[in-house]
Amino acid sequence: MGAETIVITGASGGVATLLRPRVRRADREIRLLDLHAPARPPEVGETFVERSVADLDGLVEDFAGARAVIHLGGKSREASAADVIEHNIRGTYNVLEAARRAGVDRVVLASSNHAVGFHDRADIPAGGLPADVPARPDTLYGWSKVSIESAGRLFADRFGMNVICLRIGVWFSSPADVRGLALWMSPDDGGRLIEACLSTPDPGYRLVWGVSRNTRGWYSLAEGEAIGYHPQDDSEVYAEELIARFGPLDEDDPELRRVGGNWCSIPLGEPN
Ligand SMILES: NC(=O)c1ccc[n+]([C@@H]2O[C@H](COP(=O)([O-])OP(=O)(O)OC[C@H]3O[C@@H](n4cnc5c(N)ncnc54)[C@H](O)[C@@H]3O)[C@@H](O)[C@H]2O)c1
Repeated sequence: MGAETIVITGASGGVATLLRPRVRRADREIRLLDLHAPARPPEVGETFVERSVADLDGLVEDFAGARAVIHLGGKSREASAADVIEHNIRGTYNVLEAARRAGVDRVVLASSNHAVGFHDRADIPAGGLPADVPARPDTLYGWSKVSIESAGRLFADRFGMNVICLRIGVWFSSPADVRGLALWMSPDDGGRLIEACLSTPDPGYRLVWGVSRNTRGWYSLAEGEAIGYHPQDDSEVYAEELIARFGPLDEDDPELRRVGGNWCSIPLGEPN
């Protein structure tokens, strides 16, 4: 069998930069798509295509022969309504439609904890907030993520495509603040999650939290485990330093009552 091809959109962004070395394999071609070239040039087994997800016909060409698309491209923070509609909602529709036209039946979509940011931490059940907890977006950005999740559901139901939506917490090399201790997904766990998404047989439509096995976590790991994602890292190693720097989470702070934190009160549509 020849090498399998995996497409990554948003390939010049922070998440893709962490992911690329973790999904590289001798028997895998990685096609990197973004508006601009990545700071770290393509390595052996990687190719770069300058492409906006606004370009449906171009995406159909780029996806030809691919086994899966990992869609990370778009606005990754709060932005104007025009921008989240163009880059996130329309862009994700184009990715799903291009995958369908190109015959790619597995798509991983980058959703976010901000799709459900208005849930109250006091309502988190034992075992964590389920990955399919109803949408309660905290921003226009969060609303765009709810929209891409439902687009994924549509393509899964209509066309039998496998669409896994990752409600990502914070996927950075380390958590930046105390709230991040609940949301962090380590780079290695991110690699494990993507491998699980690529290898789990016939997943259909799934919602899965993108988080590590955090001692202070708020999110269920069960849905990830059901597709073979077994996180191994824990943000607790950063707890002492972050709490010394910022103080503990103030349980009475109204902004921190919600899982979306202060994203529940930032000005709508203004880049943060
Ligand atoms: N990093 C996190 O902690 C986190 C948390 C939740 C969700 N996410 C989601 O994961 C994805 C990746 O996040 P990130 O942190 O790498 O974001 P990022 O902002 O670092 O990277 C996003 C990339 O998408 C590209 N992009 C923007 N519009 C595009 C378009 N129209 N066509 C093609 N490419 C386009 C940008 O050029 C950029 O390189 C995003 O969808 C984000 O919303 C990330």
